Amino acid sequence: MKIMVTGANGFLAQHLCVFLSDKGFQTIAVSRGPRKIPLSNNIFYYDLELTNVSSVADFIHNHQPDVLIHAAAMSKPDECNNNQEKCILQNVTVTENLVYLVKKYAIHFIHISTDFIFGENGPHHEDQLPDPLNFYGESKLMAENIIKKVLTDFTIVRPVFIYGAVWEGLRMSFIQWVQQNLQNGQAIKVVNDQQRTPTWAEDICAGIYQIIVLKKYGIYHLAGKDICTPYSMALTVAKVLNLDSQLIIEVDSTSFPEPVRRAKQSGLTIQKAVHELNYQPHSFEEGVRKSFGL
Ligand SMILES: NC(=O)c1ccc[n+]([C@@H]2O[C@H](COP(=O)([O-])OP(=O)(O)OC[C@H]3O[C@@H](n4cnc5c(N)ncnc54)[C@H](OP(=O)(O)O)[C@@H]3O)[C@@H](O)[C@H]2O)c1
Repeated sequence: MKIMVTGANGFLAQHLCVFLSDKGFQTIAVSRGPRKIPLSNNIFYYDLELTNVSSVADFIHNHQPDVLIHAAAMSKPDECNNNQEKCILQNVTVTENLVYLVKKYAIHFIHISTDFIFGENGPHHEDQLPDPLNFYGESKLMAENIIKKVLTDFTIVRPVFIYGAVWEGLRMSFIQWVQQNLQNGQAIKVVNDQQRTPTWAEDICAGIYQIIVLKKYGIYHLAGKDICTPYSMALTVAKVLNLDSQLIIEVDSTSFPEPVRRAKQSGLTIQKAVHELNYQPHSFEEGVRKSFGL
């Protein structure tokens, strides 16, 4: 089976490409610029700017994958807020173009969305009404709505606050940021009034693998099983790595006047994925241990 993954130089997509190629899938990894993803026999990297409509159409016509996992996005809420036109282009127009192509070639489309399509009162289940609090969330919701309108067989996956192992060429996730600061004796301020269900990258990869092999369509929340605040996550990192937790200063979100709103009580429920995909995510502490190879 041939799987195409967009955003392949990004955090989630690098994990996905490595995971899926280890499972024996021929993995067509596309992103812009030089390859950052590790070399592997089964991963074929291509530099492809997704806003270039004709190049993308030619590429899909030539490769005709069985599955297309769309993980590319402008993924930082602040950046989306400050560059709204570009955000619509990257997150909505690019998705719309892909949607018509996967329809034409009957490719299973797996779209990576986000918990940011919801507002407060999480954890949210799959059918809850969206209520994005910022422009990033709005753009991801617009993309979801186009997918639902145009395609009948599609899969939308929503993760939350992804963390995991890093290697050369891969940006840090939250847990490495905590590690680096604490190892340098640097105090960090971390909010304790935002609730999330952080997702270990390997768990979401395993969930997507099940979606592919079981050919599952619809919406799935692939998040972690623990409800945590960033402060409690930072404490767990300190515990696992035996670092000085006194350097972690508990604050509330009013200490960081942020340009975009973020939900205080977010997170996603995972019962549907547990029942239908046999999704078995690790606890946050287990995920952190495994991310650091412990
Ligand atoms: N990280 C999280 O905690 C989280 C949580 C929930 C949902 N998600 C969703 O999960 C997906 C992956 O997130 P991530 O954190 O792994 O993102 P990421 O690290 O920011 O990676 C996104 C990748 O997509 C590429 N890209 C964006 N627009 C492109 C375009 N027009 N053409 C070609 N490549 C393009 C980016 O390239 P450049 O580097 O050149 O911009 C980058 O390599 C996103 O859809 C995001 O919305 C993430």
